Amino acid sequence: MTSARLVVLFALLWAFGIASPFKVLLTNYDGSIVYSLGKPTNPYYVPSPGKSTAVGSYSIGKNGVNWELDFVPFTVVVLNATIITGKVIEDTIEEYKKDDVYVADFLVGLQIISLIKGAELDESAITYLKSLSLPYLLIDDRVKCSSAIGKSVKNTGIVPPGPYVGKIESGMLSLFPTYATFYDQYDAFMTGATPNDDGSYAYARIWHPEQYEIMIPYPSKLYTSLLGLAQYPLAGRRFAINDIIDLDGIITGGGSREYARLYNNPKNETAPAMAKLIALGAVPLGKTKSATFAWGAWPDQTDDIPYSWNPRADGYLGLSASSYGSAAAIAAYPELDCTIGTDTEGVLRTTWRAVEVEGIITSAITLDSVGFLTRDPVLAQTIANVWEGEAKPALAPGPFAYPKKIIYPTEWFPVNSSAAQSLIDSWIANVTTVLGMTIEYQNTSQIFQEVVGYNGTMGEWTTNVSSLNIYDKWVTMGRQFVEDYGKEFGGRYPELDVSVRTPWAESPTYTKEYYDENTERAWEFTDFINNHVIPGNNDTCSDGLWIYQIADTGGGVPEYRDRTLDYFPDFAEAMRGASIAPFAPTTDITVPIGQIPYMSAISHVEEQLAITLNFVAHRGCDLALMEFLQSMCGRWLLR
Ligand SMILES: *[C@@H]1O[C@H](CO)[C@@H](O)[C@H](O)[C@H]1NC(C)=O
Ligand SMILES: *[C@@H]1O[C@H](CO)[C@@H](O)[C@H](O)[C@H]1NC(C)=O
Ligand SMILES: *[C@@H]1O[C@H](CO)[C@@H](O)[C@H](O)[C@H]1NC(C)=O
Ligand SMILES: *[C@@H]1O[C@H](CO)[C@@H](O)[C@H](O)[C@H]1NC(C)=O
Ligand SMILES: *[C@@H]1O[C@H](CO)[C@@H](O)[C@H](O)[C@H]1NC(C)=O
Ligand SMILES: *[C@@H]1O[C@H](CO)[C@@H](O)[C@H](O)[C@H]1NC(C)=O
Ligand SMILES: *[C@@H]1O[C@H](CO)[C@@H](O)[C@H](O)[C@H]1NC(C)=O
Ligand SMILES: *[C@@H]1O[C@H](CO)[C@@H](O)[C@H](O)[C@H]1NC(C)=O
Repeated sequence: MTSARLVVLFALLWAFGIASPFKVLLTNYDGSIVYSLGKPTNPYYVPSPGKSTAVGSYSIGKNGVNWELDFVPFTVVVLNATIITGKVIEDTIEEYKKDDVYVADFLVGLQIISLIKGAELDESAITYLKSLSLPYLLIDDRVKCSSAIGKSVKNTGIVPPGPYVGKIESGMLSLFPTYATFYDQYDAFMTGATPNDDGSYAYARIWHPEQYEIMIPYPSKLYTSLLGLAQYPLAGRRFAINDIIDLDGIITGGGSREYARLYNNPKNETAPAMAKLIALGAVPLGKTKSATFAWGAWPDQTDDIPYSWNPRADGYLGLSASSYGSAAAIAAYPELDCTIGTDTEGVLRTTWRAVEVEGIITSAITLDSVGFLTRDPVLAQTIANVWEGEAKPALAPGPFAYPKKIIYPTEWFPVNSSAAQSLIDSWIANVTTVLGMTIEYQNTSQIFQEVVGYNGTMGEWTTNVSSLNIYDKWVTMGRQFVEDYGKEFGGRYPELDVSVRTPWAESPTYTKEYYDENTERAWEFTDFINNHVIPGNNDTCSDGLWIYQIADTGGGVPEYRDRTLDYFPDFAEAMRGASIAPFAPTTDITVPIGQIPYMSAISHVEEQLAITLNFVAHRGCDLALMEFLQSMCGRWLLR
């Protein structure tokens, strides 16, 4: 800790009797505290001081007004002006109030830091500071004062600006980072997490008993506001990680209570793909729920880790497949910029191997891919460029223009709702006009029969490919898990959701020959899709974008979390659209294009159903796909 020069203390002079709004609500055994600032907002959080130490410590001597242990909400202001006027300080604080964590109640203590050595605090600044009646004021010794304002503190490095909590103990004032919180009202998270000084993460120990929900701490974006975007293009972007992916300091539960119970050591390394996001400036807020070992399941099959809630429409719609926690979180919480999920058989995906899969529980080696969900297409492009980019052999290096063709596979349309189909037709007409694209109507099955020569449908021909994870998951982790579990718990087999129990019953008899046969078929399918259905192109990477509607209910019909209310069409005639990208193994994005009304079987009123379209590109053309997404921005094409 820094042994600094003296702090300026004005308490007796200006602020006699000013009460701090700070109220400790709870002190946890690890020293983390939960507090309020007097207003009926969500509580704030300070992580364990043993793991996340003070950013600055200053001796305030025995003359300090608070010799006993006490907490003071604090504001750190970082200025970049040669003459610091009252207006400069005031405007800066006003600017900070736009942040979603910082509030005026943090202005009980104030630290002024200058990026410029020898900056001068003029008379107006002193008048302004006096008018604030602050009991604690720390001024960096790089700042010159035009008239006496007391003593300054040695500035031992730039503390990022924003809200802090000052802890006063035995004559020392120490500043700790602090967090606002939101309720996990939609049960999207397994846990919140805050960063430790050593690069690992700590469990957030905050809970909302009245609502039976955990609370998720999130840091001020001011903390990352001094990071240069060239080096940190994702500075301050808050994200959440699906629980099959490792985060240092946190147990990887894999969407299974028994797995987490058996392997209950926190991980000691963050998955490389996540570490890369963090190195680019992104900030993880915690782990989101996953279906067991990411085995896509219906909501009513997720007994083990109860399914999250969809905030949209009647609140009773599904969230699709295995990354349901990440899907709920990004839809529900504006505090998040992005969530990470995984894909094996179709939901969200980058080209296979464009993002590292180490530190992630395996599903199927030849199919697994990591993907992200975000509400912001510009951010999506940034993430794709910096996360996936950089000369990965799996990824075609850009830059590319966006593809100029929509490939419209006639067998996948119309969708099962005329309102949704009209919306799709209108949207495609608009997008092709605005972006100067053409539409190619394609009979994909006809190409399939010509190229592959199989007397049956694409769906039939690929049906066994989806079984690859029955083998891979068992060989890479399942067998070991079942064995370890039995040893630990008296020969018992672990409790598992039916979505895992059923395939694992088959796993021990699944032969390598059958596996090789299906792998071979996946590669044949890869050739068929990437050379005949969505070929490459030198200018636009992908010759066109192959579209479909992802809803398992056939499109434009609500998919309730309760399957007894749902209708599922048969995909046997062609093939489930969402399986094409994983089997090929290429990239696929889901884009919202508008909404249509439906009469809800739950709320009994008319609700709005989001309509999406999916775009599949040639393998490795993730960046061209992002170029397409980005080119639609600001043109009212994304809803
Ligand atoms: C400080 O101001 C200078 C000059 O205007 C500018 O070049 C620099 O980027 C600023 N630094 C920060 C961190 O804003
Ligand atoms: C991290 O954990 C793994 C698995 O438990 C162990 O093999 C490895 O030695 C640990 N590494 C460090 C640096 O502690
Ligand atoms: C469309 O969905 C409804 C259920 O909402 C179903 O009864 C009907 O058969 C479906 N039609 C088609 C063409 O799939
Ligand atoms: C297409 O453009 C027209 C005219 O601007 C607009 O009225 C319509 O809502 C658009 N359709 C969609 C689906 O965005
Ligand atoms: C597509 O081609 C297949 C096979 O040639 C044919 O059976 C089917 O009717 C065609 N579908 C459409 C929508 O044209
Ligand atoms: C495809 O299989 C069906 C049913 O077995 C048969 O009736 C049909 O003649 C076969 N067509 C070709 C082209 O082999
Ligand atoms: C799928 O595998 C089963 C054996 O499990 C086999 O009988 C069937 O012919 C295979 N289907 C195809 C389309 O290859
Ligand atoms: C793409 O570029 C390669 C190498 O320059 C060339 O051989 C090929 O003909 C080009 N393809 C098209 C479709 O222009």
